[in-house]
Amino acid sequence: MQEKGLVDFFNEFIENRHIFKNKEALSTTFTPQKILHRGEQIKELARILAPLLRQEKPSNIFLYGKTGTGKTLTARYTSQQMMAVAEERNIPLKVIYINCKIKRTADTEYRLLSYILKEYGKVIPFTGLPTDSVYTKFYQELDAKPHMLLLILDEIDELIKRAGDEFLYNITRVELKKTKVCLVGISNDLNFTDRLDARVRSSMSEEEIVFPPYDANQIFKILADRAQTAFEKEVIEEGMIAKCAAYAAREHGDARKAIDLLRVAGELAERETSKKVTQIHIDQAEEKIEKDKFIDLVENQPLQYKLVLFAILNTPHNKSASTGEIYSIYEQVCKRTNNRPLTQRRVSDIIAEFDMLGVIKATVISKGRYGRTREIDLSIPPLLIAKIKENIMKNLNL
Ligand SMILES: Nc1ncnc2c1ncn2[C@@H]1O[C@H](COP(=O)(O)OP(=O)(O)O)[C@@H](O)[C@H]1O
Ligand SMILES: [Mg+2]
Repeated sequence: MQEKGLVDFFNEFIENRHIFKNKEALSTTFTPQKILHRGEQIKELARILAPLLRQEKPSNIFLYGKTGTGKTLTARYTSQQMMAVAEERNIPLKVIYINCKIKRTADTEYRLLSYILKEYGKVIPFTGLPTDSVYTKFYQELDAKPHMLLLILDEIDELIKRAGDEFLYNITRVELKKTKVCLVGISNDLNFTDRLDARVRSSMSEEEIVFPPYDANQIFKILADRAQTAFEKEVIEEGMIAKCAAYAAREHGDARKAIDLLRVAGELAERETSKKVTQIHIDQAEEKIEKDKFIDLVENQPLQYKLVLFAILNTPHNKSASTGEIYSIYEQVCKRTNNRPLTQRRVSDIIAEFDMLGVIKATVISKGRYGRTREIDLSIPPLLIAKIKENIMKNLNL
């Protein structure tokens, strides 16, 4: 027996396609036809990489810029165009793109090597082989046929955070007989190279390209272009695209945020079977995105980061905490969860990273002759704190 109410609902859902024409255009994997406002960066990257097509080794490059400034898009677009030329002319070029943030791809040196080997059609066991012998296999495979390898390591700071810089150290130093490797590192974290071994840093960042944030006007144009592909005609109420652009430009010009906002607003309108996307939907979308952002961010942290955050969440919320106070709670949390505590210095660095991610706000206070200390306040919306705590506890088996 079919339930009439539900059947009506599903039928209505199928027929009620007033909002999206091609929702795919608002997904994170979509490559737009036009890349606006990035002509300079694309040209620069192409200029640096072009020697690959003459089978000469180009400089390694770092692409820097805040989230949503078009780094991934630019790197993928430029390498795809290059690959097309290489294929046409039978130039032995191989492009491997790795997003180091994706779980189980680059969280250990072993996994990263095994991922690259897989791209060459070689499968190694999940674990078990000694790292040395994996490297031997890896170099053998690279040098089996002469070619140029363009290795793009996106969100490379995540690789360093999880797996250290050994891989970069080795790959920038190895002398292969036939094959040449060019590295492109991409990062949102402008200070990230400070954490690299000096030798790795200098060989990785022979060239650098900076991606400045978009301004509201540029975001507006990017959005308007995307909305035209994604939405049915006249679905978006007058002025709403400018609203989304302004919202995304408020912190910094993050095109991803703007596109997400438009997608979520459209979904909310669709769910209400509304015929238009209005201010109310945008406001609701903004709230929802803020909430998801913090929850995701916390879920994706490595274990020690979760332990530190849990300690921060367990300081009294009505006053600022000092690094020392957080550290002693952190030590207790480690004890309870059977984890070995890091040094206070390292925890202090982790706290600084949470500051950069906008999870907390740290203010340096001078205590006169007693030196300086940091006062730490949470930036997580109060309604979310309990939810996040609960997530971490589940995760840590507390
Ligand atoms: N200049 C641009 N023109 C069109 N779309 C863009 C542009 N810059 C960014 N986008 C879109 O914004 C989103 C974020 O861009 P992305 O390249 O992933 O940023 P980043 O890697 O710097 O965080 C993607 O959906 C991308 O397609
Ligand atoms: Mg990116």
